[in-house]
Amino acid sequence: MAFATRPFVRFSSATAAAKKLVVKHVAVIGGGLMGAGIAQIAAATGHTVILVDQSDEILNKSKKGIEDSLKKLTKKKFADKPEAGAEFIEKTLKNLTTSTDPVSVVHSTDLVVEAIVENLAVKNELFKTLDKFAPEHTIFASNTSSLPITEIANATTRQDRFGGLHFFNPVPLMKLVEVIKTPMTSQKTFESLMDFSKALGKNPVSCKASIFYIVGGGRSR
Ligand code: NAI
Repeated sequence: MAFATRPFVRFSSATAAAKKLVVKHVAVIGGGLMGAGIAQIAAATGHTVILVDQSDEILNKSKKGIEDSLKKLTKKKFADKPEAGAEFIEKTLKNLTTSTDPVSVVHSTDLVVEAIVENLAVKNELFKTLDKFAPEHTIFASNTSSLPITEIANATTRQDRFGGLHFFNPVPLMKLVEVIKTPMTSQKTFESLMDFSKALGKNPVSCKASIFYIVGGGRSR
């Protein structure tokens, strides 16, 4: 009997896996205010995280900021259990590594969350490069506040695996995340980004990317 049922079970779980990507390994590019916060909550919720920035000096600052933030949060959360708090910090920091080379880390990631300088050309250049080295299944997401996600996605060949993940400052405290879908974002990618946001303990809301023009010549998503 066991022989007859086992292949069926294997088949159904393989089918489920093909439907949605469960994000485990994350690269966060940009270790500033937003990127450090995103890396912190992803590591704190059990994901393995590589935080990338342009220099070790910046990354050391980011890591120090994350440690300070974790200490502050655990002081409140584990007020009567300081040992559990210390264990939580240790576990979180174990999940977090840093790098100055996005190309060398992207091969092992399920998701890239970009939080670099708010400049379309610089973001496009980064994603165009990463697109060549990331595995097929890897989803790309930008945390941009004001740039059109569709135009950033167009710098890559994986528009179906590209969306927006718009966090709010301060990331460890703000519950809202906007999950932005372009006309090319696949349903599977969108659902994976929604699930990832929930796994971070956030309340994701769905947003559609649309380009609109502001009187005066500015343009936003
Ligand atoms: P930030 O200036 O604090 O951090 C940006 C980091 O990116 C810096 O550490 C910089 O060294 C790094 N960086 C720049 N170019 C890079 C590259 N090519 N490769 C790797 N690292 C690079 O900026 P912040 O505030 O964290 O914003 C980042 C993104 O998040 C922007 O797109 C911004 O629009 C968006 N955002 C910002 C919010 C805010 O309240 N500050 C809120 C929501 C989104």
